[in-house]
Amino acid sequence: MAEELFIPSTQTKIKKYEALLPQIKALISGEKNLIANLANIGAALKQTFNWWWVGFYWVESNELVLGPFQGPIACTRIAKGKGVCGTSWLNKHTIVVPDVEKFPGHIACSTASKSEIVVPIIKNNVVVGVLDCDSEHLNHYDETDRIYLEQLSQIIADLT
Ligand code: SME
Repeated sequence: MAEELFIPSTQTKIKKYEALLPQIKALISGEKNLIANLANIGAALKQTFNWWWVGFYWVESNELVLGPFQGPIACTRIAKGKGVCGTSWLNKHTIVVPDVEKFPGHIACSTASKSEIVVPIIKNNVVVGVLDCDSEHLNHYDETDRIYLEQLSQIIADLT
């Protein structure tokens, strides 16, 4: 397909996700390389929602290691159970953080980041990575983001 996204700019967040997810599926359908696909998925999310930071951490032995991302440079390794990402990995659950300063143990890669959502990518009941989205605004992520980003996480798990 042509490398162009069609996202209705004036529509609601739900409409944007509804437009985006099928295009992401199409975008990655012809490509087997995981890094290439994660890179494009991160870019598609950034292009659609313009979040401060969006990217992936991938499980490597007992740590999460920074993968493809869009935004400022970030910490490269996160231990299991540490920060929002490591906690999402440990608990196998999405974590929505309305105010990062109120999350005990939050890892501040960027002081501009104010709220965050981390979605685990689960394959055969094992977390293989996490999708981390950060906003410079408080209370930025909600149930809508959780629902659609979990669908996206399932699409990604199916790739691996
Ligand atoms: N805030 C995350 C660390 C990753 S950065 O936000 C890119 C955490 O607490 O796990």
